[in-house]
Formats: sequence, C-alpha cells, structure tokens
Amino acid sequence: MNFEKKAVLITGGARGIGRSIAERLHAGGANIAVVDVNVDAAKGTAAELSAKGVKCIGFECNVTKTDQCDAAIETTLKEFGKLDILINNAGITQDGLLIRMSDEQWDAVIAINLTGAFKMSRAAAKTMMKARSGAIVNIASVVALIGNPGQANYCSSKAGLLGLTKSTARELAPRGIRVNAVAPGFIQTAMTDKLTEEQRKALAAQIPLGKLGLPADVAATVAFLASDDAAYITGQCISICGGMAMA
Ligand code: NAI
Repeated sequence: MNFEKKAVLITGGARGIGRSIAERLHAGGANIAVVDVNVDAAKGTAAELSAKGVKCIGFECNVTKTDQCDAAIETTLKEFGKLDILINNAGITQDGLLIRMSDEQWDAVIAINLTGAFKMSRAAAKTMMKARSGAIVNIASVVALIGNPGQANYCSSKAGLLGLTKSTARELAPRGIRVNAVAPGFIQTAMTDKLTEEQRKALAAQIPLGKLGLPADVAATVAFLASDDAAYITGQCISICGGMAMA
C-alpha cells in the first residue's frame, strides 16, 4: 500500500503493535510521528525508522494530558506540514476481578484507553476538518465484543472506543474523514508476555486458528483501513482474532 507523502501520528508507537503499525506505514513511504509516555523508546523507534529513509520523529505524549495531545498534533504539523492519519493505539491493562477492582485501576485504564483516544481525536479532527480529509484508526480489542473475566475496566474502555469510533465516524464523514477500529484478539506483545505457558495453551485452544496473532497481523489490517483502498469504509470494526469472535 502506498503511503508516500502521508503524515501519520501513532500513540503508544514505541513498541508492540504500535511499533509494528509504524513499520508497516513507513515501509509504504509515510512520515511517522511516534509518540509515547516512554520518550526514549519513542525516539529510538523513530531513529531506527528514519535511518531506513523517510523521516520519522519520536517524542513524549501522555494521552491522558490534554495539553500534550494538542502539542503532539502541533509538532506533527510543524514537522510534516499536515496530518493525514491518526492511530489511537496507546493502551494498558490493569486486571482484577470486579469485587476487588479499585477505583484507581478503573480510572487509569479508562483514562488512557478511552479518554486518551477522545483527546487525540478531538485535536486531530480540528486540522483534518480544515483539510477535508483524514483517516483515524482506533485499536480496540476483541474483548470489547465478547467480554473477559477480570477485565471489566479494559473491556469497558475498548467497548467505549467502539462507540467513539461510530459516533466520530458519523460526525466527521461529511468532512471527508473516515474513522474505523480494529479488534485484535490475543497478540504476542509485552501485554501478553505476562501470560504463563499454561494460560497461553488454554487460550490457543479457544482460538479457531489455534494460535496467538502477531503485531504484523494487526498492522496489515490497520494499514488497509488507513489507506485509500478503504475509501468507502467508515464506522466499522474489523476483528483480527483468529476467529475468536465471529460477527
Ligand atoms: P504494549 O504495552 O506493548 O504497548 C503499548 C504502548 O503504549 C507502550 O509503548 C506504552 O509505553 C504506551 N503507553 C502506555 N500508556 C500511555 C499513555 N498514557 N500515553 C501514551 N502512550 C502510552 O501493548 P500492545 O500489546 O502493543 O498494545 C497496543 C494496543 O493494542 C493497546 O491499545 C492494547 O489495548 C491493544 N490490544 C492489544 C492486544 C494484545 O494481545 N497485545 C489485544 C487487543 C488489543
């Protein structure tokens, strides 16, 4: 897919799925702004990509901070002159059974996974509306569709993200901006490295394709939704879950 002359911002792009999306879009020719709370890792990822050719930048942005979200869009515009694609990827888990889940666990997950995507979308929409074009892809999760014990906060944040996707898709469509989501299943990253071998085997047994996915599997679908090939697709969610959820 061709992303030449496209300017992209990816939240939580320093590692894992976000980094894989950065690699994929950069390979298609895009300039990427990699933003993350882990500023050293963001800079490292951007430097490695830039070394392969097209310029990338890496800098700090905590998506829970409104001023940092607004500044991230400003910096991207200053560096690349525009913003074509926003990927809301930053996310965390803080698991616990409902009766033991603290307010802090609930609030932290909602603040990053859902409110962070809202803050970034709001800031990005202002410039995309002026340009009358743009694409936003939100990284949700298959558990938003099917639930998961011990993840009331995480599932709620990702289900909320699907609501944000559909609402903003309707609101921004008249301005030529598309908003879509993906719902990854269990993908091999630091987030799932916490699982024991036993948990991993039990999980694989529930997945029709019989294995965990790779970050590159997610990146391929995100690249499609962000590309002009998806010009007539908005407000949708595509599951990348080995068949765990079937619509
Ligand atoms: P990861 O933990 O490897 O990467 C997440 C990145 O987000 C990290 O670089 C982290 O520093 C950054 N981040 C955390 N808080 C932030 C904040 N407040 N502001 C900016 N950046 C922040 O996780 P992974 O697995 O790559 O997940 C990426 C996204 O994919 C998340 O939204 C996650 O919920 C989602 N996802 C992951 C699945 C998996 O199995 N790994 C499955 C379904 C969805």
